[in-house]
Amino acid sequence: MLEKMKEKSVLFFTILFITVIFITACSGDTSGVSGTLDQDKDGSNKTDQNKDNDSDPGSTFSPLTLGLTPGNDTTEVRINWYSDGAATNKTAKARFISLNEEEELIEATGTVNAASAGKTAHKVEVTGLVPGTSYKYSVSNDGTRWSEMYDFNVPAVGAFRFAIVSDPQIITASSKIDPRSRYPHTDTTIVHSWQETMTKIIASKASFIACCGDQVSPANNEACYTSFFSPPGLRSLPFAPIVGNHDGHMIFKHHFNLPNEQDFDEIPIITQKMGQYFYLYNNVLFVALNTGAVNPGNAAAAKIFINCYDQILTAAKKTHENKFDWLIVQHHKSTAGVAEHCADLDIQYLVEAGFESIMSKHNVDFVLAGHDHHFSRSYPLSGRDGGLVSVPDKTKDGNEIINPGDPIYFTISPASGMKYYTISADPYFAYDNVFGVKNNPVYPYLGLDANAASTMVGSVLYMQGNLPVSNAKFVQPFIPSYTIVDVDGKTMTIKTYAIGTAKGRSPGASKDYDFDEEIPYDEITVTKN
Ligand SMILES: [Fe+2]
Ligand SMILES: [Fe+2]
Repeated sequence: MLEKMKEKSVLFFTILFITVIFITACSGDTSGVSGTLDQDKDGSNKTDQNKDNDSDPGSTFSPLTLGLTPGNDTTEVRINWYSDGAATNKTAKARFISLNEEEELIEATGTVNAASAGKTAHKVEVTGLVPGTSYKYSVSNDGTRWSEMYDFNVPAVGAFRFAIVSDPQIITASSKIDPRSRYPHTDTTIVHSWQETMTKIIASKASFIACCGDQVSPANNEACYTSFFSPPGLRSLPFAPIVGNHDGHMIFKHHFNLPNEQDFDEIPIITQKMGQYFYLYNNVLFVALNTGAVNPGNAAAAKIFINCYDQILTAAKKTHENKFDWLIVQHHKSTAGVAEHCADLDIQYLVEAGFESIMSKHNVDFVLAGHDHHFSRSYPLSGRDGGLVSVPDKTKDGNEIINPGDPIYFTISPASGMKYYTISADPYFAYDNVFGVKNNPVYPYLGLDANAASTMVGSVLYMQGNLPVSNAKFVQPFIPSYTIVDVDGKTMTIKTYAIGTAKGRSPGASKDYDFDEEIPYDEITVTKN
């Protein structure tokens, strides 16, 4: 196998050498086409323009950041990277070589744009990838000097595995994990824990990562993005991001290369408009919504966004009609959380304007969100129109559910543990409410049972230990976490893990906590037939 790789590497660099000779000899323009060797559209001379490279053709350079996002489907992938210096005379090129017997070479040219001061954003869309094939790929700012080669595997048609994360929320390289963390490495930084989470995900053999937002914080800090992209795994796994309330800046657009991004005239503010897109991954259709940068002052204002979510779900289903068995929504502001943000007015208005009704109307299977920095999983929720919260179907209980009938809502726990929000009824931790659940008298809806005559509403009662009625499971692990999903036809198994093993009892708690990094702290299998 090693010999085989060496042979392919030799072949790759031989092709690179021929490419250099070819580029030197001609000045044609055939941008963005697989299997072509080309220059920029402006035909400009790129020699010695790339200051982050040395001047020897064929030598390597290191992009400042480099990440992948899913393409329209698994035959495509999108690349985004940063380089130092102005965009003038730069290009964006990618080259994939398959490791199968045909040793096919795919080349593509993309776009460059000025990003933050003194930095350039490069984006390339690669098409024509073959399912079940392993590739090596490299990128270039000038078509002459290339990065090192990275691994990229396209999943075979059929069963596959993916990961879910939320709120890595990278601050700075030196910032510490929440001091209340049970993560056994006490001197860890947020970046360290994010890197370890990524190491676990790579080891799981997941084929891509769906996120629920708050990749960084603050939104306009390039150093945070540099740290966010630091795990090597992000060079090999596509990462589908979400705009969180901490990501509301144009830098998000520069760092991610999104497929099928929608443009809504109804939303004039770019940070609220951006980051709404969809992609098909084998038999699962994913729709990404921007609730993170949305802060409606009332339900009527929220309705504008609900209408856009409705439109993108319709567009995604039409584009991939008859190609998917599952429909999953990714967004940021969980409507079914049970901690700090459970009584927030912005989320209340989204629900009242029909957020959960839209999910049910489109037969969404799972709604993945974050923002509330704990883990919770709902019963199938009805999507009651105009209500404060959906009605749970508590007959669909346990860890195996057949035909849920309505969406199941996940609030995904943070992937780095920058901060955790406590839960009022947590037996494993004395409720401290250090961040302060909002004193909202009408939301969340806490009814002991959705069909009971007696209902409870408001966060004061929440703080007495009454949680919103929608939850089948909730936990605050106080350890960075990640979720692994196995998709096999019309069965999906969703397991959530802590990245460390920890046992003990927190002061004031009524029970011992016990987390094993090898054993999921939540697991559910859903089958549709
Ligand atoms: Fe958030
Ligand atoms: Fe967050």
